[in-house]
Amino acid sequence: MADLTLRPAEDVDAAAIGAIYDEGIAGGNATFATGVHDAAERRAWLAARDERAPVWVAEHDEAVVAWGALAPVSHRPWYHGVAEYTVYVSESGRGAGVGRVILETLVAIAPGHGYWKLVGMILPENTAGLRLAAGCGFRQVGIHRAHAQAAGRWRDVALLELHLTEEISG
Ligand SMILES: CC(C)(COP(=O)(O)OP(=O)(O)OC[C@H]1O[C@@H](n2cnc3c(N)ncnc32)[C@H](O)[C@@H]1OP(=O)(O)O)[C@@H](O)C(=O)NCCC(=O)NCCS
Repeated sequence: MADLTLRPAEDVDAAAIGAIYDEGIAGGNATFATGVHDAAERRAWLAARDERAPVWVAEHDEAVVAWGALAPVSHRPWYHGVAEYTVYVSESGRGAGVGRVILETLVAIAPGHGYWKLVGMILPENTAGLRLAAGCGFRQVGIHRAHAQAAGRWRDVALLELHLTEEISG
């Protein structure tokens, strides 16, 4: 998709971020999260995030078409350099390279937020999510079997990782 603008999310983006998140949840293969995420809920979610948990949006024609976020994987201090990424593209914007641009942006900003590694936790049925990660250089390091339940069914989760520093990459 041409003419994408990438920028940190603002309060005013809350409704669009929530609507895009809900589309992803409805697809059934993106997340274990449930529920509906309206503007008020997402505004609170945005407000609770700090320097270590950035959220970025992609705009096209002045409309938010995707968002991505980083969050620390653990409160344990020795894991402080490891973040999990999240990428959600609006249904109508998928398959046009937007997810790729968002994930590349997260990879680019992550070191500035103190991260040395990104991990992705993707349901194995999420073909687009797996291909997106692979295209951005992530490698699959394993599969958690029956990691959590969605709609009463145990689901596996593929674990992906990308080292961000030359010292440990390769
Ligand atoms: C996963 C998701 C973010 C991908 O975003 P996107 O903008 O559609 O992806 P892109 O167009 O950048 O394509 C990325 C790769 O996925 C592939 N892809 C995209 N849609 C696909 C589909 N429906 N089936 C198979 N592969 C697909 C592309 O071909 C590309 O692979 P390539 O680099 O090998 O050619 C998007 O489908 C989405 O928002 N899904 C719901 C939320 C989710 O599952 N997020 C991932 C977990 S955080």
